[in-house]
Amino acid sequence: MHVPTARYRPALRRLHWLVALLVLAAYLLIEQRGLFPRGSNRRAMMMQGHFWAGLCILLLAPWRVALRARSALPPITPALPAWQALPTKLLHLALYLFLVAMPLLGLATAWSGGRTVWVPFTGIALPPLLPENDALAQSLEGLHRTIGELFYWVIGAHVAAAFWHHFFRRDDALRRML
Ligand code: HEM
Ligand code: HEM
Repeated sequence: MHVPTARYRPALRRLHWLVALLVLAAYLLIEQRGLFPRGSNRRAMMMQGHFWAGLCILLLAPWRVALRARSALPPITPALPAWQALPTKLLHLALYLFLVAMPLLGLATAWSGGRTVWVPFTGIALPPLLPENDALAQSLEGLHRTIGELFYWVIGAHVAAAFWHHFFRRDDALRRML
């Protein structure tokens, strides 16, 4: 008998995929900035695009977390062995922390490095909440970059787990998010 999949509520599904796209955009824009020479307008646009992809993630995070806190999780069918519950929870927690910590670190890096964060399509700059400080900017940037590189692996594990569930375990974990 066909049992319909219980899915995440629609807003959580949309937010998940929108944020995943924004994460992809933030990575692509910063990693590909070398396509344009230093000091060029296009490179500055890539940088501002990186800032704003990241800031949108930060703006969406409280909404997503509030919705998630008020929603019952749809069960996975067939149910997972009990030992998998904790690693799954920790992985999701790490992803949520990443979505808040990375943009905050990025903002702090930009401001302490004396970079302006413009509001898109306006001549308005966000007022910097940190004074310029080269040494601080360098350590924050190092941390921001290291976490960014580490999360290629964490996000990779998350995506691999989703495909493993779908194609090998053949449960409805992925369909709950579609
Ligand atoms: C989830 C969101 C974000 C991710 C995944 C992310 C990821 C990264 C990565 C991987 C790098 C290092 C790139 C490299 O050196 O090759 C980087 C650099 C940087 N990011 Fe982000 N970032 C995010 C959000 C932000 C935000 C919101 C801001 C500022 C408003 C920001 C500002 C910066 C700055 C200033 C650099 C240094 C770029 C340079 O020196 O050329 N980031 N980011
Ligand atoms: C192709 C890319 C992706 C796929 C196929 C995917 C798939 C999934 C699936 C199937 C779930 C439900 C897991 C479960 O309930 O056990 C999930 C949850 C989640 N995903 Fe993704 N994901 C992707 C990208 C991302 C990215 C880039 C992020 C953020 C960096 C992310 C963050 C999360 C978080 C935080 C949850 C936990 C949701 C919750 O239970 O509150 N995902 N994802």
